[in-house]
Amino acid sequence: MRFNVLTIFPRMFDSPFAEGVVRRGIDAGLVELHVHDIRDYTHDRHRSTDDYTFGGGPGMLMKPEPLFEGVESIREKHGTREDAPVILLTPQGERLSQPLVEKLAAEDDLILICGRYEGFDERVRENLVTHEISIGDYVLNGGEAAAIVLVEAVARLVPGVLGSNESARSDSFSSGLLQYPQYPRPADFRGMAVPEVLLSGDHARIEEWRRRESLRRTFERRPDLLEEDVLSPEDRAFLDSLRK
Ligand code: ADE
Repeated sequence: MRFNVLTIFPRMFDSPFAEGVVRRGIDAGLVELHVHDIRDYTHDRHRSTDDYTFGGGPGMLMKPEPLFEGVESIREKHGTREDAPVILLTPQGERLSQPLVEKLAAEDDLILICGRYEGFDERVRENLVTHEISIGDYVLNGGEAAAIVLVEAVARLVPGVLGSNESARSDSFSSGLLQYPQYPRPADFRGMAVPEVLLSGDHARIEEWRRRESLRRTFERRPDLLEEDVLSPEDRAFLDSLRK
């Protein structure tokens, strides 16, 4: 998986990927992360990346020329296919979710554009970008933090990036439900005991307990995630008992 990022703050990407799972993926050659300074694609003396908006109004917009040139240069330099997704990080975009992350993880190449200022030239949206993605309903100062979130969420799904002790499959959301409660040793910590069933060695009972706790947690915290089609008749009966 190869990420190419366009930003006016390339150093923001240094420390988030200096260690941890994504770093390991980069070191193992499974993930490539190339960060490009949008200013390198400007041609004026001030290396400006923003300009006033036609028709007047407060604030500055990202200029189109350096963004188009930046994407074209990435395609040339890295041999990125013309149809590789070009993603604009913006609060106006589709909300990032685990299903969307999984779709993006199936690509070989992603180009990410981080905005600053008050927004983008509409021609960037219409003629350069293939996806607009938001990481949530709040406004950041720019797309960089959102791009970091997206890279981390996608890179960990690249085969081989997670170690054998780290499972992507059973994580919250991948099953459509939140993760059940988990406990490492000790069995009793300051009088707080691990649920007895987990010490029983009875795997069928443990699986049933985990499924129910996942359902309970999802019902209490994120009922919007409870999609009927992933629920068995037993799941539904259990949820009915919670509703009563
Ligand atoms: N840029 C500013 N706010 C953002 C958000 N919530 N998601 C993605 N990009 C952004």
